[in-house]
Amino acid sequence: MNARPRVIVTRRLPTHVERALNEYFEVELNEVDIAFDPARMRAALLDADALVPTVGDRLGADLFDSTVRVRIIANYGVGTDHIDLGAAAGHGLVVTNTPGVLTDCTADLTIALMLAVLRRTGEAERELRAGEWTGWRPTHMLGRRVSGRTLGIIGFGRIGRAVARRAHHGFGMRILFHSPTPPPAAVIEDLAAEPRELDELLRDSDIVSIHAPSSPATRGLIGPRELGLMRPDAYLVNTARGDIVDEPALATALRAGRLAGAGLDVFDGEPTILNELVDAPNTVLLPHIGSATLETRTAMGMRVVENLRAFFDGASPPDMVSASR
Ligand code: 8YV
Repeated sequence: MNARPRVIVTRRLPTHVERALNEYFEVELNEVDIAFDPARMRAALLDADALVPTVGDRLGADLFDSTVRVRIIANYGVGTDHIDLGAAAGHGLVVTNTPGVLTDCTADLTIALMLAVLRRTGEAERELRAGEWTGWRPTHMLGRRVSGRTLGIIGFGRIGRAVARRAHHGFGMRILFHSPTPPPAAVIEDLAAEPRELDELLRDSDIVSIHAPSSPATRGLIGPRELGLMRPDAYLVNTARGDIVDEPALATALRAGRLAGAGLDVFDGEPTILNELVDAPNTVLLPHIGSATLETRTAMGMRVVENLRAFFDGASPPDMVSASR
């Protein structure tokens, strides 16, 4: 007799995680690692007790009804904007995520993007590899200084603060932040961080970095007006969600020289990238690799395992995003 809950995983996960899942559950892995289409996703919801999706899987309201067998969606990742939480809860599903374990690696990648854009490392390496480097000269590949600059952070939660710690303590940067919820006084003191209204932050920062979740309140938050408030020598970095930035407006601002550059790890509609953005000058574009380290991707998977185990043991999963109604 096999009473183990049936779990469907939509993408390949690190080996250690797949092994752990196999230990506790009857698991269907996605050996070919090709994204589920809507029909396959719907079939999975009808066929399993639990679903483990990722950011690339859209779970809209149309996929949920009373015939769904899945009781828990244990999302592999922290952002849950790809899941219609209301529809899932309305049909009795619990949704969990994997917070905390990707904070450091995402913050590291944010700093890497910042350095790459301001110091032009991608462009410089491409020049060398193309055999176009003609030798050292004082005016070659001049970027802009990162140390000591003013960093404006939009969204001052776990990842925003981790970026601020690196920037302030490692690079001596002045930290401005915009956040709907005020951080503890100790955090403000440690980082000498200054709260700002969004418009002020955009006007006063050398680099603006986005660390807010995608939500109805943040979608399109950085549009033509907001980009217009930034200085022409300022840079935009986004490792949060692509839909927070109006990408056509960003491409236009970059092309017009109204913004110095952008470092992006996330895109609206990814993996499709707006052509205008690919063609825009002074950009470093990465394929959503904020959390892509073996350590973090393994830790994320182990959080998924913990959430599933707690749920099927009848306990409350540690990383509950929304409960069933
Ligand atoms: C994850 C992310 O790798 O956790 C998130 O919200 O954006 C990523 O860094 C991705 O979501 C995996 O599903």
